[in-house]
Amino acid sequence: MSTHPFLPVAATVHAKINLYLAVGAERPDGYHDLTTVFQSVSARDEVSLNVAEQAAPGEDVVRGLSVDKRLPGEVPTHAGNLAWQAVRLVVQAYRDRHGPRLLPGVKIHIDKKIPVAGGMAGGSADAAAALVAADAWLAAAYGREPLGARGLYPLARQLGADVPFVLAGQTAFGTGRGDELVTMLTRGQFHWAVVTSPQGLSTPEVFQRLDAMRAAGDVECREPDTQPVAEALAAGDTEKLAGALHNDLQAAALSLRPELRKILRVGVSEGALAGLVSGSGPTCVFLCPDAHAADEVAQAVAADNPGTRGMAVTGPAPGAELVSATRAD
Ligand code: C5P
Repeated sequence: MSTHPFLPVAATVHAKINLYLAVGAERPDGYHDLTTVFQSVSARDEVSLNVAEQAAPGEDVVRGLSVDKRLPGEVPTHAGNLAWQAVRLVVQAYRDRHGPRLLPGVKIHIDKKIPVAGGMAGGSADAAAALVAADAWLAAAYGREPLGARGLYPLARQLGADVPFVLAGQTAFGTGRGDELVTMLTRGQFHWAVVTSPQGLSTPEVFQRLDAMRAAGDVECREPDTQPVAEALAAGDTEKLAGALHNDLQAAALSLRPELRKILRVGVSEGALAGLVSGSGPTCVFLCPDAHAADEVAQAVAADNPGTRGMAVTGPAPGAELVSATRAD
């Protein structure tokens, strides 16, 4: 394998859950206006950039993508993967600012622990980590200041609605497509059991189902109110937060996957304070009183529902950041 002074480089990133998600009307661009509260949790992916054969001038710098994963679900290994697109965008941004440079080709490797197509922004998370890793590589290769969080934010928005949040991490209030963010005050750690399903759900399909259910009068549209969530987070009050969790997409996810009802019921009967579908689902998350309860709920729900898997996580967790100590490859 060839060497390069600034590669490999790697970044980690965490999954998100939505503690509150209110969906407004569909917009002309096909997205829906959201009022949401995101929290990053400790399930994480790692994305590394490794040296590959030189790309000819005008050719894509990204020469390939590989994935290690222990969870079910298809992860694209072609240019359609958001991490691939993220590296291309950062290369373009440096070329636009500082002119063309002869760069080595890079291969992307994703070590995947975030559920695939599960409503936890796994694909978006890989894009955010790829942005951070590519920024570090190119800043060193060009001998320039990195773009940093501020410079990467517009690129994150281009990649998808959830990418800006997973890039920033922690806990945030989101409006617009969910990509206009304000950091929220939180105290302490919250313990969650996460239960993944063997088959993912398509996010656009879940939004469309909600629109159809609303048009048919099956579910009502209510005014968003994130005040109770904000108060619970600022006080570090788990019980209060349990009473304030809400997800408008849950009705649509349950209509597409009725078996999720049982998962939610079992989680609460096994000791969770509350359970809800995460984002567009089908992953379900359960707020638990402590780490031990989160472990027990995760295991009990998974045991009771063949094909599902459970894990205990904590939140908030950081955004995408460089892995400094370990060398990737
Ligand atoms: O931005 P991203 O590609 O992750 O979004 C996937 C799809 O989810 C969008 O194409 C859209 O159908 C739906 N979506 C939406 N409103 C949002 C976020 C996502 O309708 N605010």
